[in-house]
Amino acid sequence: MHEFKYKNNQLYCENILVGKLAKTFGTPLYVYSYHTLIDHYLKLKSAFSEINPLICYSVKANSNLSILKALIAKGAGLDIVSGGELFRAQKAACPAQRIVYASVGKTDKEISAAIGRGILFFNVESLAELKNINRIAKGLNKITRVAIRINPDVEAKTHKYISTGKITNKFGIDLDSAYKVLLLRAKFSNLNICGLHIHIGSQITQSAPFVEAIKKVSNFIQRLKSKGIVLEYLNIGGGLGIIYDHEAPQTAEIYANEIIPLLKKTGLKIIMEPGRFIVGNAGILVVKVLYIKHTLKKKFIIVDGGMNDLIRPALYSAYHNIWPLAKIAKTEKADVVGPICESGDFLAKERLIAKVKEGDYLAVMSAGAYGFSMSSNYNSRLRAAEVMVIKNKALVIRKRESAQDLVRNEVMVNNLTKL
Ligand code: LLP
Repeated sequence: MHEFKYKNNQLYCENILVGKLAKTFGTPLYVYSYHTLIDHYLKLKSAFSEINPLICYSVKANSNLSILKALIAKGAGLDIVSGGELFRAQKAACPAQRIVYASVGKTDKEISAAIGRGILFFNVESLAELKNINRIAKGLNKITRVAIRINPDVEAKTHKYISTGKITNKFGIDLDSAYKVLLLRAKFSNLNICGLHIHIGSQITQSAPFVEAIKKVSNFIQRLKSKGIVLEYLNIGGGLGIIYDHEAPQTAEIYANEIIPLLKKTGLKIIMEPGRFIVGNAGILVVKVLYIKHTLKKKFIIVDGGMNDLIRPALYSAYHNIWPLAKIAKTEKADVVGPICESGDFLAKERLIAKVKEGDYLAVMSAGAYGFSMSSNYNSRLRAAEVMVIKNKALVIRKRESAQDLVRNEVMVNNLTKL
């Protein structure tokens, strides 16, 4: 379900014409629907109400402060992966006890800051990191909580760049090594190893890989129990797939029905870290058609947003539906491409698409997750504005960048040749 719908052949976001937003705020423009965002969060929350997990929204999917704030207000926690995301969490006033922190490469500075904030726990990805967090916590005279990220060696059946649970991936610790670490837990004087974490990948559309990973971890938890090692938390990560094209991903209910019995058996408090499921279909990228170009072989629709705004098609060959803002019956095969000077700069390839003309607008659908958050200034293009729609109100939640923003941190050395 999402709140981007045609009424009288015009695309609306909630009660506002998307075309009006494009004209008011300019393009490229990210448009989010507040109700879609919250609806997805609540769907997951209610599907899992029986075990009442802490849902830590994965900030990397879309880290806009207003999005964080809206979810925190509904009771969500945050899954963070950097000092920058910790800063955002703090700005959005997320209670520290609702923050979990993953990443294979946490720096000393980031670790100290998170300990200082009193986050719920770190998801630790290696023995070296475990030792380092222990050392830093000791220096700060603190006992800090950590969960060990397990690499369950499970095939997530998703794009290889976003599969994280195979033993050849850089993430987590294999079961046997984790077991050895846990037996030695007393050696880590300033750590409370209180949980396990798994995250096997992203855009996973079937529950089988999740089930397989959770089964492996729950057997592991039993094995630990038999050695007298009792944990408090199991963090099952994110990864729930959404509909971009013709996928038929498991619904929140199906996912819940499959895994709740397994989770209950562990007896642990459950944490989840969904990103895409919550925000993916709550956002679109609106672009304007600059030129229509016919070459000897192809038709190109050249728009004002490209791989710098939405890198998913270029990076993962990801599919995003592209809708005209005003419905057009006629379609034609074309590539939708951006203005960036790379042939990888496309939003759609060989796509049967509405026969738009120059000056028309297009909506790139399902762009709420890993859209703006992965955008860049490549080709010195200004990053897009972001607007949140609530019923018939549209609020700017990020201003369009200015040329000044581009060079703000640069230092122009004038006399280099003389040095
Ligand atoms: N937890 C951890 C430890 C993660 O690494 C991730 C995502 C999540 C949770 C949230 O996963 P989600 O529920 O959103 O699938 N840029 C890629 C996706 C990268 C995912 C990175 N990790 C894309 O555009 O498809």
